[in-house]
Amino acid sequence: MKRIIVAVVCLMGFSFVGFAQGSAPRVPRKPVKNILTDAEKETRFVHNLMKKMTLTEKIGQLSQYVGGELLTGPKSGAVSDSLFVRGMIGSILNVGGVEQLRKLQQKNIQSSRLKIPVLFGFDVIHGYKTIFPTPLAESCSWDLGLMYETAKAAAIEASASGIHWTFAPMVDIARDPRWGRIVEGAGEDTYLACKIAEARVRGFQWNLGKPNAVYACAKHFVAYGAPQAGRDYAPVDLSLATLAEIYLPPFKACIDAGVKTFMSAFNSVNGVPATGNRWLLTELLRKKWKFKGFVVSDWNAVQELKAHGVAETDEDAALLAFDAGVDMNMTDGLYNRCLEKAVREGRVEMKEIDASVERILRAKYALGLFDDPYRFLNIERERHEVRSDSITRLARKAAASSMVLLKNSHALLPLSKQTKRIALIGPLANNCAEVLGSWKARGEEKDVVTVLEGLKNKLGRATEVNYVRGCDFLEPSTQEFSAAFDAAKQSDVIIAVVGEKALMSGESRSRAVLRLPGEQGALLDTLRKAGKPLVVVLMNGRPLCLEKTDQQADALLEAWFPGTQCGNAVADILFGDAMPSGKLTTSFPLTEGQIPNYYNYKRSGRPGDMPRSSTVRHIDVPNRNLYPFGYGLSYTAFSYGEMRCPKQFDDDGMLTVSVDVTNTGRYDGEEIVQLYVADKVASMVRPVKELKGFQKVFIPKGQTKRVDFTLNVHDLGFWDNNMRYIVEPGAFEIMVGSNSEDVQKKEAIWVQAASNTRHAQPKVKRPKQR
Ligand code: BGC
Repeated sequence: MKRIIVAVVCLMGFSFVGFAQGSAPRVPRKPVKNILTDAEKETRFVHNLMKKMTLTEKIGQLSQYVGGELLTGPKSGAVSDSLFVRGMIGSILNVGGVEQLRKLQQKNIQSSRLKIPVLFGFDVIHGYKTIFPTPLAESCSWDLGLMYETAKAAAIEASASGIHWTFAPMVDIARDPRWGRIVEGAGEDTYLACKIAEARVRGFQWNLGKPNAVYACAKHFVAYGAPQAGRDYAPVDLSLATLAEIYLPPFKACIDAGVKTFMSAFNSVNGVPATGNRWLLTELLRKKWKFKGFVVSDWNAVQELKAHGVAETDEDAALLAFDAGVDMNMTDGLYNRCLEKAVREGRVEMKEIDASVERILRAKYALGLFDDPYRFLNIERERHEVRSDSITRLARKAAASSMVLLKNSHALLPLSKQTKRIALIGPLANNCAEVLGSWKARGEEKDVVTVLEGLKNKLGRATEVNYVRGCDFLEPSTQEFSAAFDAAKQSDVIIAVVGEKALMSGESRSRAVLRLPGEQGALLDTLRKAGKPLVVVLMNGRPLCLEKTDQQADALLEAWFPGTQCGNAVADILFGDAMPSGKLTTSFPLTEGQIPNYYNYKRSGRPGDMPRSSTVRHIDVPNRNLYPFGYGLSYTAFSYGEMRCPKQFDDDGMLTVSVDVTNTGRYDGEEIVQLYVADKVASMVRPVKELKGFQKVFIPKGQTKRVDFTLNVHDLGFWDNNMRYIVEPGAFEIMVGSNSEDVQKKEAIWVQAASNTRHAQPKVKRPKQR
């Protein structure tokens, strides 16, 4: 509408000139400011403001500090006063709560010359006050709508508490479960991760510009999830083809979803630290992908360029990061300390500083902070919009939807609500601290429903729930075993809740041994001896090696870290009020020595499944995973009809595949139908299969649903080591099934018009999109 008005006004302007030259009376022109678009107003405001800013103030906008340190820590008092007075704080991180944030904003507004509002960032990773299941857990729901909703709810709570910006989603692909931060991502598959990245960005930013949404941040750019040996922060060496095919797409998906900020990673990629990588942050992100928002470094990552050995001094480090394309410097203060001198000496161009400052001021403007710096600081909203009933219900649903049923011998689950005596055992059975997971933001233990409470809520007094902890996570003591055994002996069923402590996964929490920690395995052996049905509920941040646990348990439920509504959701699943419908988004290896053992591995000359010994395999352990990618059971059963798949892609490169899925079991339920594709012969070695589609469908018992997938051949290409995207004609294997190992296959050929030979020159397609 506005554009039309502008056009009309311009035409009128011309005719006024004509009139003015003749004898007609002069009609006054409307002042230009009335017809500015919002974008023009923003530009004008920001440019005017920048004209008033000193170099110190500009660099200040590029600097982010830890809130706690400014309030009470080492940077409090005179240091913080002076930073505020000189306008040297552009953003503050990791303080939440209207009261505290108001103090900081007030100090800034009252003491700084230009009163430029501070932007408040916080790690709102899987909830803020209401804690949802961890991102890895949630990814197992394969429910994009749900993930949108939980991100939106987290944004509503965080913004009601004064936060403008979350450092999420983490969209790093993780193919190595030793890496602790696997808990924070969407698992090992790029296709699924792209969809989830998009849903979460849209969720956080659902109402951008209004004080109930927050900026999202795509992190950690890039390949942070592929460190050597799974050790957090370790260097990453990858072919460019793998970088382009596996690790970059989720970041591009975030841009396509409108993400406003990026975070550069700690690690080096092929010898160049991401935070000092101009090719990555400027050539690719800005120039090729046309990212318009701003880039923040990770915590101290600018200073760490010295430890990487690519910068000798603080000044070198600051210059390297800034020149690479890092707009905002998180926590180490190096930009404030070094950039001004560098500009004055001509080592940094003023126009580059201005470009970064402009990006950050625009972000503040778009949130309305220049109209009202306290816009997100509303104590009433904080009181009413945090932990609302609807968000609590969502947390319960999200937790149940994220759980994956791994084993259910003799249909032990769901348990009957008439069960008389339950032995509830394990260090996570009545635990409210650990079940929140590794990033609990401002979630509080007092709000957590433990499994013990959840069972009591569900069953009331008619069922006796006898709780014994049994053992700790790490202490090598078996003292409580006999009490646990007694309780088990007297029960009708044993529910053992075991796993990791929250901080055994997450940042800098890599593990080399992925068994159940401490004496928990021995505890399960003891419980087994009681001769009662044993349900094992696992809570953990990463895939564990569960071969032994799988043998010990009659039923095995992967509950991950379920968050605030832990106990209610576990009870919902165990007693059948919610149907298990999750499927794994990360493979569970048999043993650590197999790692990495992701499902979409590349073909080899001597495939491991050939019937001879000199093949790609270990001599002591099979290649298979214990639970493959995409695996998960239900209380009901689904059977797949024969897949319908044309023999050829149509002239537009499209192929529609369909399959009938029947619910043959005793309950209504949801099935996640998966579509995989493999390029049979290509000019580069291709994976044995790749996920290219999925649908989560609800099928009432006894009914059949037809599930359709449409494939576009242009999405079946690959990247070469020059980072060109290639689609080649030829045959593709099309697979449909219930998990990555359980699929039926057909073949379809794509004959490219005007070149139907397989060895035709690779055709480069759609390079601009990536
Ligand atoms: C993490 C980031 C996080 C930042 C701010 C870093 O240590 O790697 O993911 O956003 O801290 O808390």
